[in-house]
Amino acid sequence: MPTMDDATAGPMLFRPITFRSVTARNRIALSPMCQYCARDGVPDDWHLAALGQRAVGGGGIVFTEATAVEPRGRISHGCLGLYNDDQQRGFERIARFVAGQGAVPGIQLGHAGRKASVTEPWNGNRPLTADEDPWAAIAPSPVAFDDGYPAPQEMDRATIAQVTDAMAAAVRRAREAGFQVVEVHAAHGYLGHEFLSPLSNRRSDDYGGSLENRTRFVREMAAAARSEWPADLPLFLRLSCTDWVEGGWDLEQSVWLAQQLAAGGEVDLVDCSSGGLHPAQKIALGPGYQAPFAQAVRERAGIATAAVGLITEAAQANAILEAGQADLIMVGRAYLRDPYLPLRFAADLGVDLDWPVQIARGKR
Ligand SMILES: Cc1cc2nc3c(=O)[nH]c(=O)nc-3n(C[C@H](O)[C@H](O)[C@H](O)COP(=O)(O)O)c2cc1C
Repeated sequence: MPTMDDATAGPMLFRPITFRSVTARNRIALSPMCQYCARDGVPDDWHLAALGQRAVGGGGIVFTEATAVEPRGRISHGCLGLYNDDQQRGFERIARFVAGQGAVPGIQLGHAGRKASVTEPWNGNRPLTADEDPWAAIAPSPVAFDDGYPAPQEMDRATIAQVTDAMAAAVRRAREAGFQVVEVHAAHGYLGHEFLSPLSNRRSDDYGGSLENRTRFVREMAAAARSEWPADLPLFLRLSCTDWVEGGWDLEQSVWLAQQLAAGGEVDLVDCSSGGLHPAQKIALGPGYQAPFAQAVRERAGIATAAVGLITEAAQANAILEAGQADLIMVGRAYLRDPYLPLRFAADLGVDLDWPVQIARGKR
């Protein structure tokens, strides 16, 4: 579990938190959010400005969007990757700038699996057509995500090993680029999640069937990531805690997996999201709707958790922490709307933060 400085007064949201050797200045993190505007997976000025501004805006941890560990693991042509030197160089200046602003630079690494090779959301989020340079998606089983999607290629053991090796290599590059937290993406219907859910995993080998088998790939991804990540740096893992579909992956299975991860000691925090695997999902949306998942995993697996999802107000974010539901708050869309959201949250809670000197004249 993370350590915290109980002597620090004030709302918990603005108390520092330490994971291994890394201390975040507060408990607000920018949730990973795809921008779909990279070329050949290389981060450019957009990514520097978007992430950099949110570090200026006061976040404790600033996460990149989902970054693919191999080319076919990108969701779209516009998604980031970390499998070559150009990409690594692009990330270096982002990590340096974010850290220079006092935020912890984090990177989310993943693989899109059967949801790869689609257009950007503003072009319909549909499978690429033959004239749009599509690629063959891979998955645990040849089960398409939805009508209109081609069936993915079933991964053989060599392909599974190739992807876990690619995860390890990307983590090594993340370390060289200067990131201080890696989050393994195993949520939202992408490759890791596809192995977890019986709705997308129909395998009969030791990667399918029982809960132990279905979780094997994600556990191997976590181990591969940890093998290249320094012992003094934290590793997070994002899970969809339920598919929101009868007969799918659910909270009980998530708790079991989190217990294994806690026992393994490789992962420091489980980031508790949900959904994304199946078009028939029925999500019970509402303010903080996924926080109960973070609470259940935290209490029953004894591992730190992040809460995410419709957390939009300072008092609400702070209450989740004070109630012991989670250790960290990930904010997505509200932080897109307002790059200075943590500075505003501080003011809302009566916390007097030092603003970066360049913008301090705007404080009041
Ligand atoms: C534009 C956009 C892109 C996203 N991309 C990612 C991503 O790359 N990785 C991920 O784990 N979640 C992604 N998400 C989900 C968010 O990280 C977050 O979990 C979700 O938006 C719920 O939080 P919110 O209600 O604070 O927005 C994305 C969400 C949005 C709106």
